[in-house]
Amino acid sequence: MLRTYYQNAEPTPNLSGLLSLKSLLKGWLHQLVEKVLLKRQIDHFQYIIGGPVYFQTIRTACQLDLFGLLTRKPGLTQQQIAQALKLEENPTKVLLLGCVSLKFLRKIGEQYYNAPFVSQYFSQQGQRSLIPTLEWMHQIVYPSMVHLYASVTQNEAVGLQVFPGNEDNMYARISHNQQLEHTFQTFMQARTQMSNADFVNAVDFSKFSRILDVGGARGENVVKIAQRYPSIQATVFDLPSVTQTALSRFRTEGLDHRLDAVGGNIFAETFPLGYDCILFCHFTPIWSESTNREMLRKAFTAVNSGGCVCIYAPFMEDDETGPLLSAIASPYFLCTVSGQGRHYSWQETKQWLIDAGFVNIAERRLRSSEGILIGIKPV
Ligand SMILES: C[S@@+](CC[C@H](N)C(=O)[O-])C[C@H]1O[C@@H](n2cnc3c(N)ncnc32)[C@H](O)[C@@H]1O
Repeated sequence: MLRTYYQNAEPTPNLSGLLSLKSLLKGWLHQLVEKVLLKRQIDHFQYIIGGPVYFQTIRTACQLDLFGLLTRKPGLTQQQIAQALKLEENPTKVLLLGCVSLKFLRKIGEQYYNAPFVSQYFSQQGQRSLIPTLEWMHQIVYPSMVHLYASVTQNEAVGLQVFPGNEDNMYARISHNQQLEHTFQTFMQARTQMSNADFVNAVDFSKFSRILDVGGARGENVVKIAQRYPSIQATVFDLPSVTQTALSRFRTEGLDHRLDAVGGNIFAETFPLGYDCILFCHFTPIWSESTNREMLRKAFTAVNSGGCVCIYAPFMEDDETGPLLSAIASPYFLCTVSGQGRHYSWQETKQWLIDAGFVNIAERRLRSSEGILIGIKPV
């Protein structure tokens, strides 16, 4: 009876063929999507789990200047690479396997070549070398980041313990260690150079005559501004160990008649007077919301009427979903640097400026989640 019912209900043979083809295709499509998506997800997990090993593989290759070697001599074999780098056979195999799997090298037959862009970013002579960033990661972030769990659960910079000293932030502690301060400042300078041409293009500094750059480091930003605006004068304010380098740089570049540098701790001193623009470049993510608010109130009092405060930093998206850069930097500020900071969103930073008294807040978005917020002190 049931069979008769189904037999009766069965569609015509043609339509049935079409339906089963459709469900077959649907199944294949489903499998394909699942495999592709799953593969990407598994790769993603693998990059996270293997992260420390992959990072050390590339850092080791950079230390040996493997990518520089293959820039000069593309197509070397494993044996030729081992000879040139003075390595034994087994470690050479291990290193090349890592670099090929990570797609930094291509192996064609028995010959090795740099993948596109590798020469530029990862050889020691590369024009946009990321090696200072790798060294900052290796010497500063890596040793301290093993304390992230403790930092998160205790809400303090437990990672600071890897830098001798009793100060409450990394900058003050590494000021006693020339090598680490050099590593940090070289990284920071290279990092800032990647976006500060855009920064200087995005702001009309011609309205200002005297600029104070708080935490201005080696003067990377004021030098760019001074080159573009020939009558501007500027002062870098940073820790004394850092301003020495800024001062000698200004002398070397013949800018010392317009640029100077003052050493001190901005939180222990009143803000210097007489400036019509105060810059905080990559400075606000270091500190807590309350410290930043207090700092902006002090800047508001100090800056000339009609002048401005300009915050140039990487920002977190307002909905707190990224970008990835914020997911690297925020744990770093929590665990390694100060135990207080992180990347802040556009919205919360704007609010600090408004609450400090600034008006006409302007926003400029640059590449790679960097941006600028400017607030004017009313006349
Ligand atoms: C993340 S770096 C930013 C450097 C520079 N503004 C740039 O955009 O490349 C922060 C700088 O703030 C300085 N700094 C940290 N604490 C400071 C303090 N209490 N007073 C003045 N400068 C400080 C550090 O020495 C460092 O040069």
